Amino acid sequence: MRIDILTLLPATFTGVFDESILGAARRNGLIDIRIHPFRPYGEGRHRTVDDTPFGGGPGMVLKPGPLAAALADLRKDGPPAPVIGLTPQGHVFDQTMARELARLPRVILVCGRYEGFDERILPEFDLQISIGDYVLTGGEFPAMVVVDALSRMIPGTVGDPDSVREDSFFDGTLDHPQYTRPAIWQERAIPAVLRDGHHSRIADWRRGEALWRTVAHRPDLFRQLALSSRDRALLQDALANHSQSIPDKGA
Ligand code: ADE
Repeated sequence: MRIDILTLLPATFTGVFDESILGAARRNGLIDIRIHPFRPYGEGRHRTVDDTPFGGGPGMVLKPGPLAAALADLRKDGPPAPVIGLTPQGHVFDQTMARELARLPRVILVCGRYEGFDERILPEFDLQISIGDYVLTGGEFPAMVVVDALSRMIPGTVGDPDSVREDSFFDGTLDHPQYTRPAIWQERAIPAVLRDGHHSRIADWRRGEALWRTVAHRPDLFRQLALSSRDRALLQDALANHSQSIPDKGA
């Protein structure tokens, strides 16, 4: 998959896409990330890309002309791709969006800056994405978040396909708790079921815990789940187990 990122701050991306899973996916040719500065498309001797808002008010607004010219150049090269603006007014990004975008051969991400985009550039965007209800200084961090989340959905980027299938949100639930050695740490023991190596019992316990966590921490997500009768039984067991244990802060 090819990902083009249009930004005023190309240096912010240095390093983040070179390490670990993303770095390996790039080296293996699974993702092709290209960073494009749009300052060169600015107007006049100073390559101006922004101006004060009509009607007054604080901050600067990104001019439509330089962005449109940069997008026109990007569209000339490579397969057709949706243009996605990163802005706090976009659709809130989630796992479903990550999975759907990862199916495409290419996406173009446009990072905003300052007080935002001139409204007249918005028809050039096929989609606007927000990564949450808070305002950042620009779209660069949101673009990194989107690239990271969708890269994990591209077959082959994450070594073990089960680790993606079991992710929080992959099936609409939060992930089950995880433990590693030692089995007892500071008098806190791992759940007994994880010690006996009985795979179907472990799978049932994990499903029950994932459902319990979702109902306890994210009732909004829980309401959207279609539970099977087995799910209901496993959740009942998890609820019973938890009512016997002292609530663990941040479990
Ligand atoms: N630009 C500034 N804040 C943002 C957010 N929350 N999501 C996407 N782009 C942004």
